[in-house]
This record gives sequence, C-alpha cells and structure tokens, in this order.
Amino acid sequence: MCGIVGYIGTKSACPILVEGLKRLEYRGYDSAGVAILNGGRIEIHKAAGKLRALEALLESCAPEGLIGLGHTRWATHGRPSDENAHPHSDCSGRITVVHNGIIENYLALKEQLIAAGHEFSSETDTEVIAHLVEQSCNGDLVSAVRQAVAQLEGSFAIAVIAQDDPARIVAARRHSPLVVGVGVGENFLASDVPAFLPYTKNVYFVDDDTIAVLERDHVSFSSLDGQPVEREIYEVTWDAAMAERGGYEHFMLKEINEQPQALRETMRERLSSYSAGIELPGLNLSIEYLRRIDKITMVACGTAFHAAMVGKYAIEALVRVPVELDVASELRYRDPIIDDRTLAIVISQSGETADTLAGLREARGKGASIVAITNVVGSSVARESESVLYTFAGPEIAVASTKAYTTQLMVIELMALYLAQARGALDETRARELRELLWNIPQQVEVILGDHPEALRCAEKYCNHNGFLYMGRGPNLASALEGALKIKEIAYIHAEGYAAGEMKHGPIAMIDPGVATVAVAVEGRTYDKVLSNILEVKARQGDVIAIAYEHDDQIGKYADHVIRVPRTNELLSPILAAIPLQLLAYHVAKNRGHEIDQPRNLAKSVTVE
Ligand code: F6R
Repeated sequence: MCGIVGYIGTKSACPILVEGLKRLEYRGYDSAGVAILNGGRIEIHKAAGKLRALEALLESCAPEGLIGLGHTRWATHGRPSDENAHPHSDCSGRITVVHNGIIENYLALKEQLIAAGHEFSSETDTEVIAHLVEQSCNGDLVSAVRQAVAQLEGSFAIAVIAQDDPARIVAARRHSPLVVGVGVGENFLASDVPAFLPYTKNVYFVDDDTIAVLERDHVSFSSLDGQPVEREIYEVTWDAAMAERGGYEHFMLKEINEQPQALRETMRERLSSYSAGIELPGLNLSIEYLRRIDKITMVACGTAFHAAMVGKYAIEALVRVPVELDVASELRYRDPIIDDRTLAIVISQSGETADTLAGLREARGKGASIVAITNVVGSSVARESESVLYTFAGPEIAVASTKAYTTQLMVIELMALYLAQARGALDETRARELRELLWNIPQQVEVILGDHPEALRCAEKYCNHNGFLYMGRGPNLASALEGALKIKEIAYIHAEGYAAGEMKHGPIAMIDPGVATVAVAVEGRTYDKVLSNILEVKARQGDVIAIAYEHDDQIGKYADHVIRVPRTNELLSPILAAIPLQLLAYHVAKNRGHEIDQPRNLAKSVTVE
C-alpha cells in the first residue's frame, strides 16, 4: 500500500531513490515520483503507471541533489494519474510530502484549508498534509510537521522536505510502517528495509506518533509533544541479494524455489533433531499459562488466514484446545468472546496489515496473550506482541505469497507440537513420529520442486479455461482456498475453493468443459470421501487434476491428471500440497502472459483498512 523512500547524504539522491522504489514497487505500482532538493529548489518528477514510466522520464532530466523523497503509489483517493502521483506540494511548491496511508478526515481539513485560501492540485488525501505544514511553517519544519500531524486522523507514514529548511528530512508515522536506515554520512528512510539494504543494515523502527528527523550525520526522534525519544538500532540479517531476482524470471518463481531453505531456517533452533523436543525461544509464556488457556483464537488475512485454518486442524487434533478462526477484518467488529484464558495467534507476513493489527489490539484489549507469527523483524505486529515466532523466509517481494505461507505453516506445526508437549496432550511416540515427519518436509519440498512435469502439462492444458474449482477436506480445505486464491490473484481466472463435501450443495453446478477441478486428495481420514467427490465431478464431464501422494495407485483411476507429492502425515500435508498449487498458478499466469509479480489492482502489505 504505497512505498515511501527518503535519502540525505553525500551522493546523488535520485538514483538511490529510484533503486529504493524498485525494491518497494511490490507495495503499489499505479504511479511513482521523486522530489529532489537541488540548489535551494525542490524539483519534482512524477508519472502515472509503473516505475519504468518514471525512469523513462528521468532519463531526459536526471535531477541532481543530495536530498530527496520518492513514492510508489497504490491509489486510494483519486485515480492513478500524473496529478495524483506523489510527491505533493503546498501552494508555493516550497514544501513537499510523500505519504503512505489514509487521512480519514482529509475532506474536513481540505474544506478548512480551501476556506483559508489554499489551492489544491490533486484529488488525494495526501495533499492536505503539505498545506497543513505550510500553514504552520515559520522556518521550523519540525515544529510545522508536528502541528500538522496533530490534526491528522487515520494512518500515515510521511516524509517532508522544505526549501527553507534544506538540511533535513522530517518524517512521522501512525499505523503505517516507517523505518530509518543509518549509514555513514548518509541516512535513509523507507516503508520497508529492502529499499536501503544495499547501503546499510542498521535500522531504527519508528514508533507510532513519533517524529523522526534525518540529517546527513544524525538521526533523532521525538514525541508529538516535542519530548526526545530514544530508539534502539537493530542490525537486520537480510542482505541485498535476498531482495534481487537472482536470475529467475520472476520473484514469485524465485520465492517458490527458496522454500526448502526458508523452511530449514524456520525450523532451525526450534527442532534441532527429531529425537529432541521442540523449543520455541520467542514464546514468552510460562508452561503454567499454556496449561491454563481454554481457547486459542487465530487472526489473519488472505493467505495468512489459510495458514491459520491449517493451524485449527493441527492444534485441535494435537493439543485438544478449541481454536476459533477469524479473518481480521471481521474480528475487529464482532465483539469476540476473548479473555485472559485466550491465547491469540496473529499471523502476518509483513507484520503491517492494518486489519490484522486492529485484530491484535482487539484481542489484547480483551485480555488475551498474543503470539505473533511474522516474517518482518521490528514490524508493528512483532512490536505489539508479547511473543514473536519469526518465519525466517527472507524478504518476500512477489505480491502472491508463497514462501511466507509455507513457513507460517511450519511455525504453526511446531507450535502445535510444542503446546501438545507443554500440556501433556500427546504421547512421546506419536510426538516423535510427527517431529520426524516435520524434519523431512524441507527435503520433500525440494523433491517436488526438482521435477514437476505434470504441473507444467496441466498449466499448459488449462491456461485458457475460464474457471477453476479447488476442493479439499480437513487441513487441505485450506489448501483448496489457497490454490484458488493464487490462481485468482495472478492468472485472473475465476476460481472457488470449497470443502469437497460442499460441492454437491451448489458449486458442482459450475462444472462444464471450461472449468477444471483441482482436488487435494492426499491419503488421510477423508481420502475415500474425496475420491467420491472426484467421481461426482467426473460424472458431470469435468476434468480433474488431483494432488496426491506418490505410490497412491488408486488415484490415477479417478483423476485426469495426478501431480504427486511425497508422503507425510495429513496434518503436515498442506505444506507439500502448497507447492504444486503455487507452481500451477505461476505457470498458468505465465502462459497467459501476465505480469506475475505485480498483479493488477493488488499491492503487498495492506496497510489501510
Ligand atoms: C495472497 C497474499 C495476501 C496476504 C494478505 C495478508 O497471496 O499475499 O492475501 O496474505 O494480504 O498479508 P500479511 O501476511 O502481510 O498480513
């Protein structure tokens, strides 16, 4: 949801900003722009469309200057156009702002500003910020930004430069991500760390309602009432190469292929050998508390919600504690029954999803202890949770989530086993058996990735179909939903994910020669039922692609195509089933000629409600 970058230092700002925007383009790609402070003047260049349109524009002007801001937009207020592209300026063009978030009271503010004589040149909510700063500015940019921020409602990470205060960038945040990168003789700001990873790994995570002031050799923080705030520097472990395509045609394909390594990293130190128990160093909850909880509530959005669905099956089966699932945007408005005996597990790759954060706060406000599962160190979800279990997936750049999902599943399985161990709910023989199976998962994922001719064949055969039905049962109901989501978001083919038993209650009416059905049919409790469901589709002349175990010699009699995955326990099987589903979606989208990493209408990290 929009990416912002800022640079102040001794190098030419423009190429650094554009490079930073490239690494943030996953956050929005409707338009992009830069503002460079050059010889006492702010020069702005912006263009509707992808970043390459801005790059083309900059080729003919290449602005010089050592201080600047950049922005890549996911439109909320005002259509994608040159005028609505950021940066935005005040009436005089002396103050310039970039913004990620939504100013909810912008209409009221705009009316007041217009009444006071301000002239607007865009339809955006952001422009009010530039005019508010102008209204309060009498030479001191920090104080003017502070006064402007005090009037804003909603979510924002902003960065401001001014011609009359040319040696600093002033930034502020509330509910939208903002990080500051600390270099030598240069400093950076961005919505996300990869923007400045080639230059520094030393990072400050900015808190809500904090003002950050970046000078060339110094960074300082203060509260909205002007009190100095001390922040701690973190050293991030990601490196710049992790945020590059590394020879792959798309980030999505790279990230699919990174899953064995990401899963191993996520397992490391938690499951050191399957003969030993699980350790969860980030879980700051006593065994007494874990024994006392009487309910677990899981909160997430999108793909992360599908991970939570698998979690319900695994935790209820192994720990025997009831698990409630909530899409975060629903939890926050439904007054859920949560108290101090509820453990809330909040799942978010980015750790910045606005609804998920609101769900977290709702659960915490009602007394729940919060365990976050997130991929981003220092993200808002991580900072607001008492326990954090990181997925060590490395930066996920493609909008469609792949390695974040399977590593979330890995953490959830580890957590289910840990809770079962803590509550004495599982005998050691079974626990050890499951640990061994979990231990084998990264290598099994490697096997699937090594050779998947049937997935490629299916992608070619069905890429021009106009619909897909995905079905699964038990924990693989989540696989069906995730498979459908993947194909919708990157291939733009209508797809439904269904509990296989529900097909006959309606969706089976959709079966026709233009609709392919993908059935997750791994052996387990309901395997025979899924076979019957496949027959029901076949009886209506529908084509079926089955995801099934190797050496399952029945399935070939039922399905038109079988994509094989290695055997594991049913509770763990969604991790393996995810891989062919991702590959199928990827190759279908590729065959259709789509821009896979940046699907239309979407952005990664949904920081607005
Ligand atoms: C789908 C996808 C989204 C995210 C959702 C939550 O491929 O990536 O559905 O899963 O927007 O994002 P996070 O996990 O960052 O909270």
